Amino acid sequence: MAHEQEKEAAARASLRFIKNGQIVGLGTGSTAAYFIQLLGEQVKKGLKIRGIPSSGRSAEQAAGLGIPLTTFDEFPEIDVTVDGADEVDSQLRLIKGGGGALLREKIVASATRQYVIIADESKRVAVLGKFPLPVEVIKFAQPVVERKIHRLGAQVDLRLDSAGKPYLTDENNYILDCRFGRISDPPGLARQLSDMPGVVEHGLFIGMANVVLFARGNEIVELRAG
Ligand code: 5RP
Repeated sequence: MAHEQEKEAAARASLRFIKNGQIVGLGTGSTAAYFIQLLGEQVKKGLKIRGIPSSGRSAEQAAGLGIPLTTFDEFPEIDVTVDGADEVDSQLRLIKGGGGALLREKIVASATRQYVIIADESKRVAVLGKFPLPVEVIKFAQPVVERKIHRLGAQVDLRLDSAGKPYLTDENNYILDCRFGRISDPPGLARQLSDMPGVVEHGLFIGMANVVLFARGNEIVELRAG
C-alpha cells in the first residue's frame, strides 16, 4: 500500500480519540493534513470541537474546512492533539520538525492531555537519527550553534526554502537540519541542545506521545506509552 493511503488510514483511525466538546490540537505535515481534512468532514456532520493549530499552514487548512479555531488565551489546555512524526522508536520517542513546525508543535504537545501520533510504517525505526534532526535557532546565533552541533559529530545544514533562501519558521527563526546518523542517547542529546544559547527548540519529542497509530498496509498497529 502506498504511503499516502497509509497516512490517510492512520488519520482515519485517530478520529475515535476525538469527542464532542473537546479542544483539539492540530498537527502539521502531510499526515496531519489528512487528519484535518477528515476532522473537517466530521465537523460538517455536526461534531462540536475547537481546534488549536500548530502552524499557519494547518490554521489555514482548518479555517478553510470550517473547523472553529481557538487559542491558548481562551483554552490553555488541549484535550487531544493528533500530529505526524518523522521517526518513532519503540519507546515512542520522536523526531519531528521535517515540516518546519517543531516549536509550535512541541508547545501544543506540552499543553495536551492525550498526544496521538499518526504515521505510515516507514516512520518506525529501531534507533532515531537517520532522519536529520531539525533544530530551530534564532538567526543571530546560527553560526555559533551550527559549530557547536558540528562538534557533537553531526553534519549540519541550514534549511533553505524553494527560492534558495534560509527557511523561516512561523516564529521567524532558522532551522538547522542535523545528521547524527544514530542517536544513541536521545535524552542526553536533547539536554545538550537545549543548553545551547540560541537554540529555541529541537525536534526530539521524548516522553510526550501517549499513543502512536502506525498504518501498515490495511492494518493499524497501536502502540501506547508504558
Ligand atoms: C512538521 C512535522 C511533521 O509532523 C513531520 O515532518 C511528518 O510530516 P509528514 O506527515 O508530512 O511525513 O513534524 O514539523
